[in-house]
Amino acid sequence: MKPVELKKDVWWVANRSNSLLEVNVYLRSYVHEKGRVNVMLDPGPPELIMHLQKVVEPIIGSLKNVHGMLINHQDPDVVLNAAFIQKMNPNCIVVASEDTWRLIRFVGLKDSHFKAVESYKGQRVKMPGNKRLVFVPTPFCHFRGAMMYYDVSSRILFSGDLFGGLSYGQHLYADESSWEGIKTFHQLYMPSREALQLAVSRIRNLDPLPEMIAPQHGSIIRGDLVKDFMDRMYNLEVGLDLLKKSQEEENYLGAINEILSELEQDPAFSNLEDILSKGSDDSSFTTVIGIQKGRVTDFKTDPHSAMKSVLGMLYKGSGAAGESMVSLVALKALIGRSIPVGDLLPQSEEEQDLPDYFE
Ligand SMILES: [Fe+2]
Ligand SMILES: [Fe+2]
Repeated sequence: MKPVELKKDVWWVANRSNSLLEVNVYLRSYVHEKGRVNVMLDPGPPELIMHLQKVVEPIIGSLKNVHGMLINHQDPDVVLNAAFIQKMNPNCIVVASEDTWRLIRFVGLKDSHFKAVESYKGQRVKMPGNKRLVFVPTPFCHFRGAMMYYDVSSRILFSGDLFGGLSYGQHLYADESSWEGIKTFHQLYMPSREALQLAVSRIRNLDPLPEMIAPQHGSIIRGDLVKDFMDRMYNLEVGLDLLKKSQEEENYLGAINEILSELEQDPAFSNLEDILSKGSDDSSFTTVIGIQKGRVTDFKTDPHSAMKSVLGMLYKGSGAAGESMVSLVALKALIGRSIPVGDLLPQSEEEQDLPDYFE
């Protein structure tokens, strides 16, 4: 496989392995009067090292001529080759955030050749040939010290895992169909939408805006998709957001079944299964929950509405005498599980008038 020149003096130098998680490695060459300075971005895992040595040959001769490495974060798929490359060129400098360095130094990198992003004024550095490189921290995307690198002259943003995607296809450049893999990758690896929103805001503030986003996995994003995927990313629920949602649903499911099992102990509710299966006159009832053997197994609507429907059913089915029993049992389950009672229980008529005892 050959290097692909993305823009002048910027190459994609990885290969494709037909795996779901393809790794990208990039090389940026800064040409100046006295020669060139070659910088590798996220040099990748050891299985790529032989390939890298071959693929860079027509561009820079050898990995010995890599003068610097920019590291996004500490994961093994990002950083392990940095140790080999620094052995080949002992003068090779590693640039990363301090948080990342604290971990990646353990792969055998030299303290003396580390430059912290934080040590540069204004989060930028002038590279040979009068080219600007801007550091863009993306806290918790997915590591707290993750750092994107923006090569201003090529307008390529090297974004690390952010905007990376699982590869359902093998395209080097993203198209509309790439979003699915990007979405899944972020849902798995990114912690929260808040972290994504902060990162996307920082990209939107870059001047000039990037023309290309070059992530460490999957396809390279360019053209209209840069803005389009950023907008989608801004609203994507991931990690903890999704976990919280599923927990919320489980909590409501648990509460409903707790209410049902407590009520069925009472002889007044011997027809509980009938109440549930009949679904009374409310034909929407059967569509909002799934029931098996007298237990609610899933919601087909949001948990709050489903709970409201079930309680409404129980009220209707139990008659006046059973209503207070349903209220009491439901209150116990809801409060016990910290579910806001809100409008879940019907207000009784008498509550509308204030008592006059304290007037
Ligand atoms: Fe990672
Ligand atoms: Fe990665």
